[in-house]
Formats: sequence, structure tokens, C-alpha cells
Amino acid sequence: MENFIYHVPTKIYFGKGQIASLKEELPRYGKKALLVYGGGSIKRNGIYDAIRRLSEEAGIELLELPGVEANPRITTVYRGVELCRREGIDMVLPAGGGSVIDCAKLVAAGACYEGDAWELVKHPGLIEKALPVICVLTVAATGSEMDHIAVISNDETQEKIGTRNPLLRPKASILDPSYTFSVSPYQTAAGVADIMSHAMESYFSREPADLQNYFAEAILRVCVENGKRLLDEPDNYEARANVMWAASWAINDTLKMGHMVQWSVHPIEHQLSAVYDVTHGEGLAILTPHWMRRVLDEESVGQFEELAVHIWKVKPSGDRFRTAQEGIACLERFFEGLGLKSRLSQLGIDESHFEEMAAKAAAQVKGAYRELTKEDIIQIYRDSL
Ligand code: NZQ
Ligand code: ZN
Repeated sequence: MENFIYHVPTKIYFGKGQIASLKEELPRYGKKALLVYGGGSIKRNGIYDAIRRLSEEAGIELLELPGVEANPRITTVYRGVELCRREGIDMVLPAGGGSVIDCAKLVAAGACYEGDAWELVKHPGLIEKALPVICVLTVAATGSEMDHIAVISNDETQEKIGTRNPLLRPKASILDPSYTFSVSPYQTAAGVADIMSHAMESYFSREPADLQNYFAEAILRVCVENGKRLLDEPDNYEARANVMWAASWAINDTLKMGHMVQWSVHPIEHQLSAVYDVTHGEGLAILTPHWMRRVLDEESVGQFEELAVHIWKVKPSGDRFRTAQEGIACLERFFEGLGLKSRLSQLGIDESHFEEMAAKAAAQVKGAYRELTKEDIIQIYRDSL
């Protein structure tokens, strides 16, 4: 295993009623908070009222940045940065899913940067300071609540880019699984696909590491065992809790430490979201099996065989490639069983932007097993049509 430094200082308050911890957590960082949220789900399920009440009891003044869109836009970040500067905000408090948290992270960094916040997306090294971020998570999916990444879209340039900096990692996150009872079946399924993709992006590596890969398999098992259950029993606390905790662990650095990890499918999917505003998890569910078939070869087959046998319980046939292919087919069927689309054409996507999308993806992706060229990526898009 290679040397590494593991430092994940986000404090997690996990479980029912943990939102009460905001009363002790928020005053640590000042007196004025910017509450960031999306299209209003937190108003319908009571989270908004709870945050308002607890902030008041803690003597925290709340200002608001509502209306963060799924696939958050840089223009919304600008609104938040402007509010922080004008009002002298001390901390940022996102309540929502990955989109809301990512937007809040970049607002937190943008508020401490004199230039254009989009530069912080393009050049993460420019982030030298950020306001503290304290999250209330409402969807199990991206792991943004415990990682140092913010993924932001720019409609003008048709780009969607993940910026990374340790200063973006939340100081604390409230994870109450019961908050996810109200997530729609579609968003729940997309979230499960995203979590699985995060685990698999680390799992498929030229240098697999035993412990990290056993962790990844545990995360995949939790998703496979609970994915369908969540659709049938949306109020199943244990299932929601397991999937929520799996989401955080899939991307909180644990899986990628100590061995070579090159994410492949994410940069390819982000182009779909940038041009077509695709739901991230659904895009991953469509692309992943086709990426797998594209990179399946002598070098990678062992890892694909392990996935098939350990996760999908495929009986090893003696023909490693057949076993691997059966595993890939199981994954495809699993995503379909969650109600996710399996073809890009079902999302109204055709070939017209493949060239430029593949060029942008190729500039970002190295690939788990070998360098993926623009032509490889165009082929993956075509296979997914
Ligand atoms: O906007 P509201 O009204 O809150 O509704 C949201 C939104 O429509 C709804 N929702 C959230 N919590 C709910 C709820 N509805 C009912 N009850 C609740 N408790 O769900 C919808 C989707 O929310 P969103 O935040 O977009 O979902 P998700 O958490 O999947 O985030 C996706 C974004 O994160 C990025 C994706 O690319 C995408 O932009 N990612 C961020 C990563 C990171 N920071 O590390 C890594 C990921 O790979 C990913 O790229
Ligand atoms: Zn993802």
C-alpha cells in the first residue's frame, strides 16, 4: 500500500433528532448564518421550521439563499457570495442534497475570494480560505456532506466541473435518516446508483487494495440489499440509515487511500448533466455497464469477476470473461429494477453533442485501467444510446 495522510475532520451527528445539535454547533462559528436550500422540500417536511427555531434559540441570525437547482449553477453561487459579502455572513448552512451542499461550499469559498467564484471551480488551488459549512443532509447520494468536492455547472460554457479542496469539507453534518423518508422513488434510486458508482470508481483500479475493496463491497452490498426495499418501504428507518451512512463512506476518502484510483464514469457523466441537465445518478446508471464492457480485458477481468461473484452471487463458470459479463448484466438489471432508464435515447439524447462532450470528458479522465481517448468515450456514449 502506498503512503497516505487520512484526515477527515467532519463531525457527524447521525440519527433521529440530531438536528438539535445545531444549537451547540452553530454558535461555534459566529452569529450570522446563510441558510441555503433548494426548491422547497425542506419547507414541506418540517426541516426548515426546525432550523429556524433552533437558530433562534441559539441566537443565530439566519439569512437565506433559496432556489438552488439540481445540478447547481454558478449564477446561484454568485447570488450567495454577494449575500455573504453584503451581510457579513459567518457560516453557511445548507439543508438539502448534494446540489444544495455543493452550492453552499462554493459560496463559502467564493465569499473569501476577491475574484470570480468560477475561477475557484477551474483552479481549486486558488481556494485559500472558506467560511465554515455545516450541513443538514436530506438525500443519501453524493457524499458531499463528508467530502471536499463541489460540483458546479456553468450554462454559458456548458461545463460541469468538480472542484476539490480540503477547505471545502464541512465542519459538521447532521444525518437524520428519517429526513430521507420523503425523497421520491426516482431520486432515491438515482441516489443509490450514485453511491454504487462512487464505490465502483475506487474498486476498479489497476492496483486494487484489499481493505479498501472489502469496504467498497460492503457499501455495494448495502445498496443492493436495500435499494429495492427503499422503493417498497420508503419509511424503513434501518434501510434509510444504512444507505445514508454508505453514501458518506463511499466518497469520504476511505476507499481511495493507499492505491491508484482514477475515476472514469463520473467525468463522462458530468458532460451529460452539463448539456442535458440529466439527473447525475441516472446518467451513471446508464453509462456504467457500457464503460465496463469497454474496459473489460485481460488486465481488468479479475476485478470484474470478483464483483460478479461477491456482489451478484454469479457462480464462477471457469470462463472469467463470461462470469464478468454476467455480473455486468446483473448490475444493468438492478438499475432497471430501481426504475432508472437504461438508454440515453429514453432521455431524449441523440448523437449531436457527443463529439464536444467526449472531448471535454477526455481532457478530465485518465481511466481506471488505461487512458480513455475521445474515441473511446464517443463509443461509450453510442453504446449507451
Ligand atoms: O430542491 P429540493 O426542493 O430540496 O428538492 C430536491 C431535488 O429536487 C429533492 N429532495 C432533496 N431532499 C429531499 C428531496 N425531496 C423530498 N424529500 C427530501 N428529503 O431531490 C432533488 C435532487 O436533489 P439534489 O441535491 O440535486 O440530489 P443529489 O444529492 O443527488 O445531488 C446531485 C448533485 O451532486 C453532484 C451531482 O453532479 C449533482 O450536481 N455530485 C456531487 C458530488 C460531491 N460533492 O462530492 C459527487 C457526486 O459524484 C456528484 O457529482
Ligand atoms: Zn457521483
